[in-house]
Amino acid sequence: MAKRFLGGAVAVGLVLAGGFMWFSRPDPNTGPVPITSAAHSGSDTQAGLVADSIVVPSLSGLAVQGEAEFNANCASCHGVNLAGTNQGPTLIHSLYRPNHHGDGAIALAAMNGVHAHHWQFGNMPPVEGITPQNLTVIIAYIRALQQANGVL
Ligand code: HEC
Repeated sequence: MAKRFLGGAVAVGLVLAGGFMWFSRPDPNTGPVPITSAAHSGSDTQAGLVADSIVVPSLSGLAVQGEAEFNANCASCHGVNLAGTNQGPTLIHSLYRPNHHGDGAIALAAMNGVHAHHWQFGNMPPVEGITPQNLTVIIAYIRALQQANGVL
């Protein structure tokens, strides 16, 4: 399966309309995983935080641009202020602390997509049109929020 996933990621990278291929591959193991009913219970999401409980630091430098890029490219799944949604996990989680998911891992996730492995949200597709410049500022933003919330 790891091989198929890599193969899929490469194909998606090569074909401009790669997003379509990603979703249309017939392998049931790599298709979207239905979100369990637990994901919808309460005001929280499966791996989400209550947005109000997140400490939002005053951002400076690259992180300011990063917030806009994150909101445009990532927040539909990872939530405003990284809170998570029912489409993707919060990134304010010790799993994603810098020494466990380094900056390179964030960049790879955005460029190649991620095979679902920690959660039940399904795969993360490659983020279309994302550039290294976008990622530099997005990573600065993610780290600023993580740091303000004790994810060190
Ligand atoms: C279409 C929804 C979606 C979008 C858009 C999205 N993600 Fe994700 N992302 C996910 C899901 C779902 C996972 C969890 C996969 C798992 O581990 O089960 C994930 C996981 C991750 C991870 C963890 C990777 C790993 O190696 O475990 C990182 C980092 C990440 N996303 C960053 C981003 C960034 C940065 C953006 C924007 C540039 C982004 N994501 C956009 C859905 C999305």
